Amino acid sequence: MMSRICFVLLLALSASFATKTKCPNIIKRSQWSTVPPGEVNYLIVPIPYVIIHHTVTPECSTRSSCTSRVDNIRSFHMDTNGWDDIGYSFLIGGDGNVYEGCGWTREGAHTYGYNKKSVGIAFIGNFERKEVNQTMVDIAHQLIKCGKSQGILRNNVRVLGGRQVISTASPGSYLYTKIQDWSEWSSDP
Ligand SMILES: *[C@@H]1O[C@H](CO)[C@@H](O)[C@H](O)[C@H]1NC(C)=O
Repeated sequence: MMSRICFVLLLALSASFATKTKCPNIIKRSQWSTVPPGEVNYLIVPIPYVIIHHTVTPECSTRSSCTSRVDNIRSFHMDTNGWDDIGYSFLIGGDGNVYEGCGWTREGAHTYGYNKKSVGIAFIGNFERKEVNQTMVDIAHQLIKCGKSQGILRNNVRVLGGRQVISTASPGSYLYTKIQDWSEWSSDP
C-alpha cells in the first residue's frame, strides 16, 4: 500500500517537473541574421538577474516582420552604436516567438551595471501607453522558468524592470505592471 502511494506521488512529481522544464521554441540568431557577432564575453552561470525591457520600436505580428524588426535592432546596435552584437539576450515578438539575441550566456548590452550578471529580455514594441499582449508576457515567463530548470538562471533569480535599476521608462508602464505578477519579480534590486 505504502509503496503504491509512493509510486503515485512519484508519477505526480515527475509530471509536474516535466511541465516546469518545458521551454518555448527559440528562433536562433542564425535564423534571423547572416551577420556574425564581434567579440564575445561569457556570463558566469547560474545567472542571478533577468532584466525586462521594451524595444521602443513598432510592434510586429508575423514571423517575417519580427525577423526584420530584430535584424534592424541588431544593425542599429552594431552599426550605429558600435556594439559587438545586438544588445538583448532575447526578444519577444508579437508573433508569439522568442528570438535569440546574444542568448543565455553571452554578455549583452542592455542595462548599465547589470550586463555581466543578467539576461536581458526585450519585448518588441512600446508599452508605456499601450497594453501588452498576454501571450508575449506568458512566453517570456516560460522562457525564465526554462532557464531556471536548466540551471542557467539561479533558482532564486530576481526579475527586474529596467526602470528599477537605470534611468529609463523601460519596459513601459503596462509591461512593468504585468511582470509584477511573476513570482520571480523582485521589488528589491
Ligand atoms: C496575441 O498574440 C498572439 C500570438 O501572436 C495572437 O495569436 C493573438 O491574436 C494576440 N492577441 C491579441 C489580442 O492581439
